[in-house]
Amino acid sequence: MGVKTLFKLSLAFAAGLSGTSWAYPGMGKTLEDLSSLATRQTGSQPELLADLAALDDDALSPVGWTIKQILLANRTAVQPHDPNTVYSPPGPLGSRACRRDTCCLWKYVADEMAQDFLESSGECNDLARQAVRLGFHDAGSWSKSASSGGADGSIILAGEWRRNENRGLESIARQMQLWYDKWHPQGAGMADLIQMASNVAAVSCPLGPRVRSFVGRPDSSRPEPANLLPGPNDDAASLVALFEDKTIVLRELIALIGAHTTSTQRFVDPAMAGAPQDTTPGVWDASWYNETLDETSPPQVFRFESDLALARYPGAQQFWKSFENPANEQFAWNNAYAGAYVRLSLLGVESLNDLEECTGVLPLPNNRVSSSR
Ligand code: HEM
Repeated sequence: MGVKTLFKLSLAFAAGLSGTSWAYPGMGKTLEDLSSLATRQTGSQPELLADLAALDDDALSPVGWTIKQILLANRTAVQPHDPNTVYSPPGPLGSRACRRDTCCLWKYVADEMAQDFLESSGECNDLARQAVRLGFHDAGSWSKSASSGGADGSIILAGEWRRNENRGLESIARQMQLWYDKWHPQGAGMADLIQMASNVAAVSCPLGPRVRSFVGRPDSSRPEPANLLPGPNDDAASLVALFEDKTIVLRELIALIGAHTTSTQRFVDPAMAGAPQDTTPGVWDASWYNETLDETSPPQVFRFESDLALARYPGAQQFWKSFENPANEQFAWNNAYAGAYVRLSLLGVESLNDLEECTGVLPLPNNRVSSSR
């Protein structure tokens, strides 16, 4: 990575640092813009999920209220990059003080995951990429007409990871089982472990967002129907319809697929196994949006047909542009990704009002980008 790129990344990161603090000048306006963009796209308010669609505001818990505001795009889902927001455990793991506070266990879990997701260069590794994708594949196996499924841990507990649509997730599936065997006796569920791992992985990548993280999802070992996940050769209209059936609108879909910034494919074209989807797969940078459209991208970058189809989809252009605009790309994209990921990570969970928030257990964002690349 050249000095110029590094400088640009540092600026973007600095913008992310201040941009996600509530004190950032102009942030209110930016969030207003994001929110009104979301509303303009659908012509109505974004869809609420599960019990939050039925409960009156005065029946909401503080966490239920927060989730509702995130789903309505009224509030950022990126946690401020402020050391004061880092959770400090009240005691050692297993102590009475620790057992009394739900987030205490999760702090120990998240710290262990974070160590496993980093290269010595400071970039995020293959296990981190797979963790982000695993979070999507567990939660995303859900549709509005489904009576069960979603973010319920069944991708591991019911062995769905062995399905063709989940190829490439073998290492993280094995690791997740190890984590479950270790942490479940202390109270951690599989569904929460998977979504926590996805958020720890995203923030472990340089420039990645600290996505607000909730726990308390019930587990299920009942297999979901197959074919609720997208394929790399699907056309744009089918992808848009597939995600709308999960309450994920086009703007959210375009934000979510930006996760391919950290992706390396193995099974779309096995002859190019290991080929990344942008030039910096160890970094969570918005340059994926530019590089996907750029015909002059280096030949080692492998672009999915599905990503190209969405990039060219007429209705998606305004969102694509808002994430590739050099003035605020990283900030705008991280906010949009985080909001959309919170929605995705809660699909199929019925009692959102009863969840607890443990975002503070996530590491602070990672600004270590190796200058030797
Ligand atoms: C249009 C929808 C999507 C399609 C068609 C798609 C397809 C794919 C494919 C084919 C791979 C490569 C698997 C392999 O060969 O190893 C992949 C990797 C990946 N996807 Fe997606 N994906 C989509 C959406 C998403 C979303 C919503 C997320 C996250 C929120 C995501 C995160 C990832 C990540 C992190 C990887 C890298 C995994 C690794 O390197 O091991 N994808 N995706």
